[in-house]
Order: sequence, then structure tokens, then C-alpha cells
Amino acid sequence: MEKAKSTFGSKLGFILAAAGSAIGLGNIWRFPYLVGRYGGGAFVLVYLLSVLLLGSVVMVAEMYIGRRAKSNIVESYGKANKWLKWLGLLGVIVPFVISTYYAVIGGWASGYAVEYIINPVLIKNPEGFFGSFISSPIAIVFFILFLFATLLIVCGGIQKGIEKASKFMMPALFLLLLVVIVYVMCLPGKGEGHTVVDGLKFYMGQFDFAKLGWDGVLAAMGQSFYSLSLGMGVMVSYGSYTGKDTNLGKSALTVCALDTLVALLAGFAIFPGMFATGASLETIKNAAGPGLLFDAMAKVFSNMGSGAGNIVGFMFFTFVIFAALTSLISLVEVVSQYTLEKYNWSRTKATCVFGGIIGLIGLFVCIGMGWREYSIFGFSLLDYFDMVTNQILMPIIAFAGCLTVGYVIKPKNVYKELAEMGSSFKGQKLWMALTMSVTPVLLMVVWVMGLVDNFKPEAFGASYGWVVGGAAVLMVIAFVWNLLLENTKFQTWKQNKKLASEAAVEEYTEEESNN
Ligand code: PHE
Repeated sequence: MEKAKSTFGSKLGFILAAAGSAIGLGNIWRFPYLVGRYGGGAFVLVYLLSVLLLGSVVMVAEMYIGRRAKSNIVESYGKANKWLKWLGLLGVIVPFVISTYYAVIGGWASGYAVEYIINPVLIKNPEGFFGSFISSPIAIVFFILFLFATLLIVCGGIQKGIEKASKFMMPALFLLLLVVIVYVMCLPGKGEGHTVVDGLKFYMGQFDFAKLGWDGVLAAMGQSFYSLSLGMGVMVSYGSYTGKDTNLGKSALTVCALDTLVALLAGFAIFPGMFATGASLETIKNAAGPGLLFDAMAKVFSNMGSGAGNIVGFMFFTFVIFAALTSLISLVEVVSQYTLEKYNWSRTKATCVFGGIIGLIGLFVCIGMGWREYSIFGFSLLDYFDMVTNQILMPIIAFAGCLTVGYVIKPKNVYKELAEMGSSFKGQKLWMALTMSVTPVLLMVVWVMGLVDNFKPEAFGASYGWVVGGAAVLMVIAFVWNLLLENTKFQTWKQNKKLASEAAVEEYTEEESNN
């Protein structure tokens, strides 16, 4: 298992790769919208608290679980206790599911970046462009290209692939975003109520706790969690590639800070841009998800006119590509690492086999989004996958992660190991206290409240049962898998079968050569 020992080449490389995973579509199409909707500054305040109390705590716990085992997520949880492997298995299944739709959206963003350069229609007449774009074969081509680029980087390995790509894409992403913001801030505006300043006021000017409400608090916690790529294998896997002397506390805080910074900045490009180019309040208030990126923002660029609009649009979507690509890489890496270590496959083989499967399922998601609106249990494939993982499974994995560190490995051992790795950090007692109490409790509260809310008739009502059911099926699969992995009789039977088939092949080849 020599391959398991690869590490990031530098501390900065690790931080940029982890930040690359964290900074993704969530920062761009969800965070700004939540701020606008839930009372501006009030939401930001709660979000920051949640990043500190929940996000950074879970992040250190996950990085530590990976770091101490120096192995894939299943083995990492297995090292804590062999009956926790199911958590790791869920941590392989979840990124696998998420990557199928993430690649589709990354493909759309790539398509848009290119369209801004070659297709004058997008800038002249953005109305309805998105609908026809996602239902054309071009969307599939870009989806495949985007996935291909991801696989190429993951095949390159930790240092030559992931670290190198992150070191280029992350600074470039910041630069692109800053340029777009500066340009947007200089827009002249379209009269009263439609200026950059109005946009800023809408985004950050309010500080309204009445608008925040309990809903807003829940949304802030859920968002911090998704945005930081927690509750799945990513931080465990990346943590396992850190070298000696990596300060886990400092690294996690830096990643949290970078992620929050990009989320905040994204809003400075979006709202002032929408206000100054005369978007309706209705559009602005609903500015989230694909509709924001591919419809509302396209209108902003088209209002800038051809020339400037083309360039700014291209830059904006290149920014989105970098954000999505560095996130997708991390998702694929979790799955690849597991297979390559477990089956002793080469990195290329592991990545390509799983990349192929992701591609196949992604194709259905892609077609389901544009060509034929098929749905399962009344949800689009994308929404269904997103809800099963994001709302149900990720909080469970993170919750269990905290308990694993606090109650299975136990504080005494954790401190000892941290010291041995040269990874002790200031405030680790506080971190441990949070890991064992406040954080898991908060996680459970968010989880239960979210469930209750979603079952309400004004939300999804009884059909939400299909979401919970889907998550339950995945959990059962992981449990059974764990049972089989740890069942000696089953493992001996498998081993014997393998030996028998190897012997048969040998016999056959011997006969062949005798002939
Ligand atoms: N953090 C990413 C985002 O904000 C999403 C993501 C979650 C990526 C989990 C990888 C793993 O969009």
C-alpha cells in the first residue's frame, strides 16, 4: 500500500486544495441569496458564528481522522473502530452522488464561458438562452469535457495533479472575481433605485433580525456546512495527505476564512450588478441556483453591451469554472483514493473507472435537466440527489465524526497523537470541548428541525418521505457493506474464491504453453 503514503508538497498546497474544495457553487449561487433574503448583516453574523462553532470544529475533526490513519476514508474511520467503517462507506457514496450533478453544472459554466467568446446571441438575446442551451447536445459535450478535465487532474496525483491545479486555479479565481467586482462597482446605474449603491444596501445595508428568524439560523448552519465541504470524505481524504508538522487548527481556520471571503465577495459582484443593470426586485429576491448564474447574471452581462459584457461574462464564468472544478476534483479524489487503496489499483485505473460511472449517471442528470424533464418521486434527479446527501446524510456523517473523535478515540489519545505528529495547536482544548458537546448538539438540532420543516405541507409534505427513504437505503447499504467487510467467514470465502480463480488461470496458461 505504498501509494497511500503520497502527501501534499507544501502546507500552502494543502490549504489551497482544501479551500478549492470548499469554495464552490454554494458560495456563488446560494450564500449571497441567503444574505439578501434573511436580513443582510444579521444573517452574516449568524453565519460567521456557525463557521466558527460548527464548521471549523468539524473540519479539524475530519482532517485529524484522516491524518492519523494516513489512509482513505473507510480505513480512517475503521482505524477508530472497525464498526465505524460504514461511516466511511457513506463518505464514499455521498461524494459519488454529488459529483454526478456537480459535473453537469460545471459543464454548463464551461459552455457559457465559451459562448461569451464565440456566440453573439448570448449577449444580444439572453432571454430563453439557458433553456435551449441545456437541452442542446452542446450541454452534453461540455459536461463530458468538464468531467474529463477533472479526471485528468485527479489522475495526475496529489502533488502533480491536485496541488498544482489548485495552486494555479485558486489565485486565478480570486483575481477574476476581484476584476469583475471592480468593473461592476463602476457601472453607472439606471436611475433611481437602480444603482450600485442600491445593490450594496440590499445586500449588506440591512441588519434585520426580524427577517432572520429561526429559518435563517437553520439556513446559516446548513450553508456553512455544505460550503465548507464537510460531512463527507473530502477533508478526511485531504487530511490524510498532510505531512508532519501541519497545524490542523490553523489550516482549518485559514480554509474557513478563505471560503467565507469568497462567499461574501460573490455577493458584491451579483447584487450591485443586478441593481445597476435594472433587474426587477422579483428577480433579485429569487436570485439563487442555476437561475441566478445562467439567467439573471447573463442578463446583467448583456446589459453591459457587447464587448464589455462579453469579456466580463467570460471572466465571471471562468471564475465559476475554477470554483466548480476544484470542488469536483476533491469529490472524485475521495472515491479514487478508496478504490486505489482498497483494490490496489493504479490511480489512473481507479479514477477512470469511477469517472466513467459518474459520467454515465451524470448523463442522465444532464438529459433530465434539459431534454426530458423526468423526475423521481416528483423531484428532478438533481434536486433529489442534492437533498438526500445535503440535508440528510452529510449532517449525520459530521455528527458521527465529532463523536468518533471525542468518544471513540478520546481526548487523551487525540492530544498525544497530535503532539506526535507535530500537529498540536493553540486552542485544542477548546476545540475538543466543542467537538464533544456544543457542535454535535447543534448539528442534531439543525438536522431534526430541517426534517420537521421539510415534512410540512407548505414544503414537501409526505413526498419528503422519499428523500428520507433514499437516504435510509444508502445507510443500510453502508451498514451491510460494513458487516461483510468485518465478517471473517465472508472474507475467507472471498479469499478462497480469488485463490481458486487465480489457480485456474495459472493452470490454463500452463496448458496453453504446453501445447
Ligand atoms: N463546498 C462546495 C460548495 O460550496 C460543495 C462541495 C461539498 C464540494 C462537498 C465538495 C464536497 O459548493
